[in-house]
Amino acid sequence: MKHYVLLFCDPGIDDAMAIMLAIMHPQIELVGIVTSYGNVTKNQSTINAEYILKVAGMSHIPVIPAAFRSFSAFEEVSYPEIHGVAGLGSIVPEHHFPGNRLGFDTIRSILTTYNRQLTIIELGRMTALASAFNLYENEFSQVKNVFIMGGAFFIPGNRTPVAEANVYGDSVSARFIFRFLQTTIAPLNVTSQAIITPPLIQRLTSHPTFGSTIQAILSVYIKYYQEKHPQLSGPPIHDIVPLLIMVNPSLATYVSRNIEVITMGEATGMTVIDLRPDSPIGQQKIAWTINQKQLLQDYENAMFGFYAGG
Ligand code: BDR
Ligand code: CA
Repeated sequence: MKHYVLLFCDPGIDDAMAIMLAIMHPQIELVGIVTSYGNVTKNQSTINAEYILKVAGMSHIPVIPAAFRSFSAFEEVSYPEIHGVAGLGSIVPEHHFPGNRLGFDTIRSILTTYNRQLTIIELGRMTALASAFNLYENEFSQVKNVFIMGGAFFIPGNRTPVAEANVYGDSVSARFIFRFLQTTIAPLNVTSQAIITPPLIQRLTSHPTFGSTIQAILSVYIKYYQEKHPQLSGPPIHDIVPLLIMVNPSLATYVSRNIEVITMGEATGMTVIDLRPDSPIGQQKIAWTINQKQLLQDYENAMFGFYAGG
């Protein structure tokens, strides 16, 4: 089965790895990339997406620059020590590439064109997704599925003690999405297990299309994780998980609950669900456990074009 994917993202290293996965996956057709602020500025994330497409020889794919700031009105901080100075490790793309850069209303055309076949994947702050949903409510009602990387449930956050970075970065938009749109969520609980170990990294760096790009992209990220999280066997590539569970849902187990997002005070960005034994089933499907070994196997299979699963 082919999955037609419109990808919202903020590349950033793991977003860039997810774009490469979407390009390589035999069961995914990437129909557009919506780029926003997040790991880097909106302008840089747009350039970075265009850079990856150019390496792949896929510059015809539409790139849609979208949100430049959070509705929570936070000043964004960037993390050059994690993502590199321009968000792609040691790569600094100098200018934008002749590509297919299009306006925001292209999202509506894509929704209409692909209709019930379209899956939306969100890998960054949810500002652009919330805006599109607010504007194109009727078109969204036809979308097949929405997958999101975000949230942390009953575990420490990665941006604050209680908040995951994507939800923290625009808690207002996250709250809006979780209130009104049915989604499948890959929270930190499962994405932190998408760890690429040195042998896998070595194989990825000899990839025929992306090998040298992956090597340069991962250099800063690997170093950061070695220094700050030496207990891990490698860096987590959070943003590949929604794509992999879309194609192979049996990689994860799920709980279905409504999600509340804290939008003010110390706990801003915290995602809250009611998991008491008698609590009602809700509209968000949350990946709860993941088969780490199979996840990484699916990832490698897809990157090297011999995926045969789900
Ligand atoms: C998420 O935050 C971003 O920095 C990463 O790209 C990923 O989408 C992980 O919390
Ligand atoms: Ca991201």
